[in-house]
Amino acid sequence: MLHVAIDAGCDHLQKPRRLDREIAGLLLMLKRAKLLLQNAQFLLWKRRHPLADFKDYFLEIAQSHLARGLPHPTLGQNLSGSAFATSGQKTFPSLARRYGVAPDDTCVDYGCGTLRVGVHAIRYLNPSRYWGMDISTFFLAQGLELIGSELAEKKLPNLRVISPATIAEAAAAKPKFLFSVNVLLHVHPSEISEFVANILSIIRCDGLAVVAGQWTEGRTIQVARQSWIHSEADLRKAVQSAGGHAIFVSKSSHGGRTRGLMEIRQNATAAAG
Ligand SMILES: C[S@@+](CC[C@H](N)C(=O)[O-])C[C@H]1O[C@@H](n2cnc3c(N)ncnc32)[C@H](O)[C@@H]1O
Repeated sequence: MLHVAIDAGCDHLQKPRRLDREIAGLLLMLKRAKLLLQNAQFLLWKRRHPLADFKDYFLEIAQSHLARGLPHPTLGQNLSGSAFATSGQKTFPSLARRYGVAPDDTCVDYGCGTLRVGVHAIRYLNPSRYWGMDISTFFLAQGLELIGSELAEKKLPNLRVISPATIAEAAAAKPKFLFSVNVLLHVHPSEISEFVANILSIIRCDGLAVVAGQWTEGRTIQVARQSWIHSEADLRKAVQSAGGHAIFVSKSSHGGRTRGLMEIRQNATAAAG
């Protein structure tokens, strides 16, 4: 009786609920189909550029969007959230507080983009202590323009395109702290090892690297054409293979996905050597 009563009582509610579920299922299928199509587009691009990496593909798309003035959540002047001056204002101060970064410490902003977060680090740090590194000259040049010549002349930020030579250069500056915000998401699974190895090379023996992002308890999942949530196990493995260790600090968790900070250090043996 109860079963019938519940069924009858909720009938008018269940229909829309079932419809909602069907619509949600359909939208998910469409999203998956779109992703498959976009992955096929990448494979076609790869055939035309056999020596290029995924990050070159990322840049081709992101730079062309930026050059057309399209809004972006983190890159360029036309940010889709708040204005350039305020968009990244909480990120660096909260990292500096949490990890005790002082104005005279050398810091690397790995994947700094157009200095949305970097501008606040540049303001806080003493001259020449900020290193902004990215895969794109175009983003660095735009970032320099966005922060303005007065701040650039006063604080002399070091801006470098990531390469073996600039990684060695940044490492020689002995950074105490490296941070990487909103970057991990855009690193292709096949390029995670390189990403982590570069970071470990920069911080050398006594630095700390903090990668802000998300990870999964299960497998790495692709969430958009250029975005992945990597599995904790894959990230841990990449860090260990590069001679480091990682602590995963969770800030929030939902549906097997965790948002937080990945603290990376070199292993004591590597550090001693
Ligand atoms: C979403 S933007 C974030 C920029 C900046 N960190 C911020 O929060 O405003 C991602 C940045 O990561 C850079 N990037 C993408 N793949 C990378 C990789 N494999 N290594 C280093 N940087 C990368 C991009 O060029 C881009 O500037």
